[in-house]
Amino acid sequence: MSNRVFIFDTTLRDGEQSPGYSMTLNEKLQMAEMLDKMGVDIIEAGFPAASRGDYDAVYKVSQQCKSAIVAGLCRALHKDIDAVIQATGPAQRKRIHTFISTSALHMKHKLQLEPARVLEMIKESVAYARQHCDDVEWSAEDATRTEHDFLCKAVETAIAAGARTVNIPDTVGYSVPEEYGKIIAMLKNRVPNIDKAIISTHCHNDLGLAVANSIAGVNNGARQIECTINGIGERAGNASMEEVVMAFRTRPDILPYDTGVISELIMPASRLLSQITGFSVQPNKAVVGANAFAHESGIHQDGMLKNASTYEIMTPESVGRDKSDLVLGKHSGRNAFRTKLQSLGLNLTEDDLNAAFERFKDFADRKKKVSDDDLVVIATSKDGIPKERIRFIALGVKSGSFGPQEAELELEVDGEIKKAKATGKGPVDACFKAMRVLVRHDDAVLANYELKALTQGSDAKGEVNIKLSEHGHAFNGIGIDSDVIVASCRAYIDALNRLLAGRNVVPAKAKA
Ligand code: KIV
Ligand code: ZN
Repeated sequence: MSNRVFIFDTTLRDGEQSPGYSMTLNEKLQMAEMLDKMGVDIIEAGFPAASRGDYDAVYKVSQQCKSAIVAGLCRALHKDIDAVIQATGPAQRKRIHTFISTSALHMKHKLQLEPARVLEMIKESVAYARQHCDDVEWSAEDATRTEHDFLCKAVETAIAAGARTVNIPDTVGYSVPEEYGKIIAMLKNRVPNIDKAIISTHCHNDLGLAVANSIAGVNNGARQIECTINGIGERAGNASMEEVVMAFRTRPDILPYDTGVISELIMPASRLLSQITGFSVQPNKAVVGANAFAHESGIHQDGMLKNASTYEIMTPESVGRDKSDLVLGKHSGRNAFRTKLQSLGLNLTEDDLNAAFERFKDFADRKKKVSDDDLVVIATSKDGIPKERIRFIALGVKSGSFGPQEAELELEVDGEIKKAKATGKGPVDACFKAMRVLVRHDDAVLANYELKALTQGSDAKGEVNIKLSEHGHAFNGIGIDSDVIVASCRAYIDALNRLLAGRNVVPAKAKA
């Protein structure tokens, strides 16, 4: 049996079904181009009978795709299958993916069909699809909660009718690795024509086991994994492609499988998806999370500086990321501090370094995140503590739909209390205009403004991230408050303080 595992990407279908993740046609085409380039074997581009948008996406992806097979999903109905046939028409390589539920629960309550009728529909739908396309995949929806004898019968029927791939979804993410592996092994042992088809996994992540279940499936004979970039998908998502691919690449000693995926494109694909959907991945997400290659503890940083394999099992470059990040914070040690300063172009004498390190520890105790700009100030300014030249004092706003929005802002600027009023297009705009009156920074433009809720409920705390850009240098600021307008002001002030420090102390140094 070959050890090549086919990667079936369903970011554009199952992934897009997750709330808030819908993509425009152009965005889908961008994503499909990336998936094709990264060597995915099959791209499921949509469910053509579900909507005009899905139909068009499958059609256009079919026109664009250079090497991957383009698949469209359909129920066991002629009209659905016809929609896939038409939508995948332009594809050089195409697949019809048809599914029906097989668990007693789904057959009774969802389909309201007798098991015998479901078997007939499997036969009819797969045979019909095969008349129009050589490559037909059949899925047993809710397979992992299906009675075993019936699942074997259904899989045998689909293969006999012409299915070349049989997919065994853990639709509700209920299975655990040992059980899922046993289901695949059972199909291998009990279905007489199983060698005529590839067995596929499609695992949802409701218990956080989607990747583990998919790997258990492969260990027991499956040779296709259905997965998505960043693990997006219905509810808790699908198996994450980057995790599956890197598990095989990192542990060939016990997982001797290959995929055709160019792992160096994993991070660009992850970023593209986040950018398109507006959802970034959690910082501790395996492989693609912001912290996946970041080290803050002094002991870890020291180990990393001596030999990266002390604390990293794969290189950041192998997944298309920049080199590992030594994040300086209160846990960091002197060695990492020195290395980081050197990377910023600052070579201090041993005495200066020791003094700067003391200042850094003091600063890091009080501040959660120590930015590169902070470090430069700590290392080079006389008193070594980044000065907050501007401090927020108070804010009053008039907002709502009645009239122009107004802000009255009070700040401490270089020790002096100042007040200004301004109007704007909304309260945030009014605040930022008042800010410009109080502190001149005419050449700086607001390059980015992002607002997100840190907690849930109407009393949630809001976090605002701001980027000010001046003469090609960017200065980021963060502000947190349960009033989002105040959070916006605090973020602006944070960015402005960095900008002013950058101007006065280190003219050339500023990082995006
Ligand atoms: O989760 C599932 O069962 C599916 C099928 C339609 C393949 O997404
Ligand atoms: Zn699914």
